[in-house]
Amino acid sequence: MTTLTKETSRANMFYLVAILLFVSSYGAANGQRDGSVVVTVSGQVRGTTTHTTDLPDKPIYTFLGIPYAAPPVGELRYRPPQPALPWEGVREAVEYGSYCPQNLVFLNGIDLDFPMEFGENMTMSEDCLTVNVFTPTVAEDAALPVLLWIHGGTLISGMGSPPGWEALAAHQDVVVVSINYRLGVLGFLSTGDENMPGNYGLLDQVRAMEWVKENIRNFGGDPERVTLFGQSAGGVSISYHLLSPLSKGLFQRAISQSGTWKTFPVNPQPLPLTKIIAEAAGCVAVDTTTIATCLKEKSAEELLESFDSLVFGLGQMLYLVPVVDGTFLSTDPADLMKKGEINTVDYLLGINNQEVGWLGLSNFIKGDLRVGISQEEFVKLVRTGTLMAYQGNPNLDEIVETVVSEYKPPTTPDDPLAILHQFSQMNGDSMMIGPTMLVAEKHAHAGTRVFLYENQYRPSIHPNRPDWVGCDHGDDLFMIWGLPFLKGPVKVLNYTKEDKEFSLNMMAYWANFARTGDPSDSTGGPTDSPSLPTWPQYTPDNPVYMKLDVVPTTDVGLKPDKVKLWNEVIPQMGTVKKDEL
Ligand SMILES: *[C@@H]1O[C@H](CO)[C@@H](O)[C@H](O)[C@H]1NC(C)=O
Ligand SMILES: *[C@@H]1O[C@H](CO)[C@@H](O)[C@H](O)[C@H]1NC(C)=O
Repeated sequence: MTTLTKETSRANMFYLVAILLFVSSYGAANGQRDGSVVVTVSGQVRGTTTHTTDLPDKPIYTFLGIPYAAPPVGELRYRPPQPALPWEGVREAVEYGSYCPQNLVFLNGIDLDFPMEFGENMTMSEDCLTVNVFTPTVAEDAALPVLLWIHGGTLISGMGSPPGWEALAAHQDVVVVSINYRLGVLGFLSTGDENMPGNYGLLDQVRAMEWVKENIRNFGGDPERVTLFGQSAGGVSISYHLLSPLSKGLFQRAISQSGTWKTFPVNPQPLPLTKIIAEAAGCVAVDTTTIATCLKEKSAEELLESFDSLVFGLGQMLYLVPVVDGTFLSTDPADLMKKGEINTVDYLLGINNQEVGWLGLSNFIKGDLRVGISQEEFVKLVRTGTLMAYQGNPNLDEIVETVVSEYKPPTTPDDPLAILHQFSQMNGDSMMIGPTMLVAEKHAHAGTRVFLYENQYRPSIHPNRPDWVGCDHGDDLFMIWGLPFLKGPVKVLNYTKEDKEFSLNMMAYWANFARTGDPSDSTGGPTDSPSLPTWPQYTPDNPVYMKLDVVPTTDVGLKPDKVKLWNEVIPQMGTVKKDEL
């Protein structure tokens, strides 16, 4: 192909398409070939194939960078996504589309030990609303279960791929779709009214679900068996989709890894922050109309720069989160949960056992993590955190005391490392376990089939982390991506036998769930899929969960005392009645 001129290769493609269309009208019996062409509602796409290191004879068809919405530029900025513009002929789908505007420092600057740089060799563009498909077959009658990946990155950074999803597709015979969605200043800024209603990134995800429903059959997928899965802000997004009338009916199951809505609750008053960002970008924030008009005239780069200068000036992240917009979200998620207005699809969710471990602790502690912290420093940190949440509250001292005594190291109260470990647990409990358990419980009450996990497995690729660091935020990514089996673009590292086994088990649990709604039911799955310990359903009466490890085991009651502390005791202390003021 490389020796051909563009014109002749185009002519060849024309014939190839004609032939493939002809062949496909005679059914899949004629077999599929490399460079398959698939028809979508917007036009035809030609993909390529890849494979994993351990299954060289199992091609996975990949279709990369397919637009699922119109470029959200000009008048479409800060608006819900519109359908993709149709194209003529066959679109080459062999390279990832541009990633959405973001500062890659927020992704690559953290000490994830990830064996590649995100965004390397790629372009950034506001025209970024694309999907990628990884599938073992393009037979239209295959009707394989579909997993739609929603990436993390605090709703400010991240991208659908790379790395790709060929390991999950090949090992489990499922179709995996990954997407980009609008982020940060372009995805979640809101004036709280119709000028800039907010939630564009979530609406992009809804539009991508519609794309899957319209098109995935032609890629070998079953449009009636779609499971959303995502990590961190992706898990948060999915938890929001379970509360939105717009997402209802577009998917059948959901998986939230390390994130539910309460980790990123809605901003009830988005306008002040939007004003600050608009002014930093040189806009005169007279009213919401002028803010919206002015922000639409700035380039994406200008907006990113203004946001970054604010964040770096403050020395802390400014979170841009979902809002109650009256369409995607009718009211605050807490109210929807109270009323049981929950989309009751099967839900698998969980957390890692050290969510604020090596990665997250460096946000709080500037010194060397290896030496631990003193008890005074611990108290100071708790006070700072409490002040942020409960400024001016008369019970502030009481809250600090309660937290400090609850997290005293039980056996070695003066050991700086034990104190640091407790601080890590405290943050993980308040930011992840509390919110996750609240969501698990409310969904189970509403009649959802819920499966809960705590991930205990620390992958072997963190040789420089101290032993006390357990399964950190993001460690599940290495495993669900099947990094031990990918040939690129990630660097091939020496993964252990345990890494590989854990990765295969995790992929099997996830795919079983997507296939049947039960993570340990391998019915209809590949015959060589690992046989796994039974993962019982979580119910309020039997709050059982799976401890994911090389050998998974079950337990009952995930830190019930800590859940009570963060979901009941502290909020109650923090609630000040009017007559008490
Ligand atoms: C970027 O390109 C180089 C050279 O082709 C390649 O070695 C590397 O793996 C690529 N990185 C990514 C993340 O694709
Ligand atoms: C992987 O293991 C092999 C054999 O033990 C060794 O020669 C090689 O240096 C290791 N590679 C890395 C990246 O650690």
